[in-house]
Amino acid sequence: MAFSLQVMLFFVVLGTASIRGCFPSSTPGVGGGEVVMPDGEKMSEKDMDKTYLFAVEGNWFPYSSVDKYTGKAVGMMYEMIKDVCHMCDMKCDTVFLGDNAERCYDASDMSSRGLNDRHFDACVGWGRTISRMNTLNFTRPFMTATMAALYAHPDSGITTVADIFPASVGFRAAYYMDALCARRNAFFGSDTLDPSSVVYVDGDWTTVLEKLTNREFDVALLPEGRDGTDGLVKITDSFDCTHGGLAMMTRKDVDMSWWDKCFMDYAMSGMQEQLCMNYDTKRCILM
Ligand SMILES: *[C@@H]1O[C@H](CO)[C@@H](O)[C@H](O)[C@H]1NC(C)=O
Repeated sequence: MAFSLQVMLFFVVLGTASIRGCFPSSTPGVGGGEVVMPDGEKMSEKDMDKTYLFAVEGNWFPYSSVDKYTGKAVGMMYEMIKDVCHMCDMKCDTVFLGDNAERCYDASDMSSRGLNDRHFDACVGWGRTISRMNTLNFTRPFMTATMAALYAHPDSGITTVADIFPASVGFRAAYYMDALCARRNAFFGSDTLDPSSVVYVDGDWTTVLEKLTNREFDVALLPEGRDGTDGLVKITDSFDCTHGGLAMMTRKDVDMSWWDKCFMDYAMSGMQEQLCMNYDTKRCILM
């Protein structure tokens, strides 16, 4: 009798967990501050009780920007985080970074002050790159990254990668579309991009384009199809400087595996596709 009651209880608990689709459901009697997820993984109650803070950059319409009438940070990322966390009863909140993306990652010294000083737990929508993976971890990508390509000044006479030498190539400093990415995707190891021909430009894409226009270098690595690339000669196919796209970037000691599981449920429910339609974006990686 006592046994069958336990069995019944077990199925009731199991049923509740599967109705919610997404786990964390405390199993009575099993314990020591642990919550058993359906796939047998355990999550400490401390982790579940924690509020996970997601840092989001600004100037990233329609994903994250400031509403000019209310001053509130709005966009697709805020809705996505709220819905994914809600799906699994996880406590989440966002931290708006505005222009201070270097608090998430500063390529000049490979630091991630905001993550390492524990101002927040994750940085939203960062490209998974080999360099960043040396110090940080990523969830599964949920958005595609903007593709990159090498563009030449029309007066340079350069039409293929082989024509470049000995001209110099401009890159935006501290950005993931870097010389490593160009070497990997456009030079294929055979013609190695000589470090002495690499020019790093401090500033944004407008500055890189200005310097290309002024022939400070004849070739630049630029986001495909960006404003200002129309008059240039695209000398390579487009390529992806990330591994799989944009994801949540975390410290290596933060267990964010719950995010991937919840996101999968969120995607399966159709909510992800709906959100991407609402924001009219083709950059979602539908699971
Ligand atoms: C990195 O993140 C993935 C996905 O969340 C996770 O499965 C993996 O265990 C993490 N690795 C480390 C070292 O934390």
